[in-house]
This record gives sequence, structure tokens and C-alpha cells, in this order.
Amino acid sequence: MLGGMVAPVLTIDGPAGSGKGTISALAAEKLGWHLLDSGALYRLVALAALRHAVSLDHEQALARIAVNLDARFALHPVKGLSVWLNGLPVDEALREERTGEAASKVATWPLVRDALLQRQRAFCQVPGLVADGRDMGTVVFPQAHYKIFLTASQEERANRRYKQLKEKGLDANLQTLLEDLQARDARDANRAVAPLKPADDALVIDSTGKGIDEVLAQVLDYVAQGVHPS
Ligand code: DC
Repeated sequence: MLGGMVAPVLTIDGPAGSGKGTISALAAEKLGWHLLDSGALYRLVALAALRHAVSLDHEQALARIAVNLDARFALHPVKGLSVWLNGLPVDEALREERTGEAASKVATWPLVRDALLQRQRAFCQVPGLVADGRDMGTVVFPQAHYKIFLTASQEERANRRYKQLKEKGLDANLQTLLEDLQARDARDANRAVAPLKPADDALVIDSTGKGIDEVLAQVLDYVAQGVHPS
């Protein structure tokens, strides 16, 4: 047992658009470890709520959805993470801005966060886990061996989202994206439970002006010579 956990964990926390999704998937692939995309769990709860017209203010109803969530994940080396809700693929719906926005609201409720806690911890399996989110290093895996807080300027993060959406042929407005990002940052950082903040023992990486390869190399380097469990 390593620090009470069955396998080593690398947590990668950070704000929306910091690149942690991409970096986490690549790091998991390179290390041959499992991947937890915790944001996808909050997005799934939000998506199920939107589809069943459950109010985003109804904490108890949202927590029930979280407890009963029928979700399946599969990690593909090229396609990345695929997600199923009630047996049906939901990859596109999950990545929509309105789902992310709703997820950020759903994630403010303590009962929802509690309901997802054990489900997230169950991802910790041998040979290891890369856990991507907002509170991986602070709340879900406080004993993690390797903790990273990945960030970038708001302008750069809005720009990245803009390019991603344009590449997918979707409509996007840079100013609106920036404003949405500011609102989401404020909500994620200021909520009472498990707010977005670096763990005291996290390595902070600012990816502003850095390419994916450079950040990935820094992350893998940190794991290679990181603090090993006693
Ligand atoms: O990382 P993401 O954009 O998929 O996350 C969507 C929302 O879910 C995000 O705005 C806040 C919430 N979230 C959270 O509160 N805690 C996590 N560990 C992951 C995501």
C-alpha cells in the first residue's frame, strides 16, 4: 500500500482550458496508467439533469442522479476518452459549452460532490492513475504521490477553446468565451466546498506560451524524479 492507496496517483488540477485534459490523457498513455476525467463525471450529472429537466438548483435530485449514474469510460490511445451514459455514447454532448457551464453549477452542491467521491477513488488501480480535475490533489486524493496544478492566462485559455471549437467547425465568439471562462473560474474558485486551488504540495506549471510537448515533458520529468512514497 502506498500512502493508503493501492497504486501511485498523479493528480493534475487546474482551471478550464488549462490543457489538463490533453496533458492528463497523454501522461496516462505514456505511463501506462488509468485515467480519471473527473470533470466528465460532473458533466454527466449535468447532462442527465438537463435531459430530464431536473433543476440545477435541486441539490437532492442532482445527488440522486450522481449516486445512480450509469457511466462507462474507455481510453483509446488516439481517440482519447470515450464516455457512455446509460449505454449510449455522449462524447459530443458532454463537451458542449452549455454542459460545462451546467457542470460547474452542479459541482457547487456538497451532496453531489459526496456522491461522486467513492466513484472517483475507485479509479485508483494498479499500475497507477492520472486524475484530472479541480480538487484531485486537495480532496479526492490528498495522499497522491505526484501533484500538479496546471494553469495559463485567461486570454490564452479562451483562445485555446476558441481554436478547438473552430477546428470542430462550431460557432464561437472569443469575447463571449472569455467572459464565460471568467464566470466559470470565479464559480469554481469561490465555491464553499472543494474550491479550485493548488494543493500545498503541488508543482505549479504555467502553460502560457508553452506547447503540449513541452508541458508533457515537464510533467513526465517530475514523475520520473518526483517524491517517492515512503
Ligand atoms: O474539467 P471540466 O471542464 O470537464 O469540468 C467541468 C466542471 O466540473 C467544472 O467547471 C467544475 C466541475 N469540476 C469540479 O468541480 N471538480 C472536479 N474535480 C472536476 C470538475
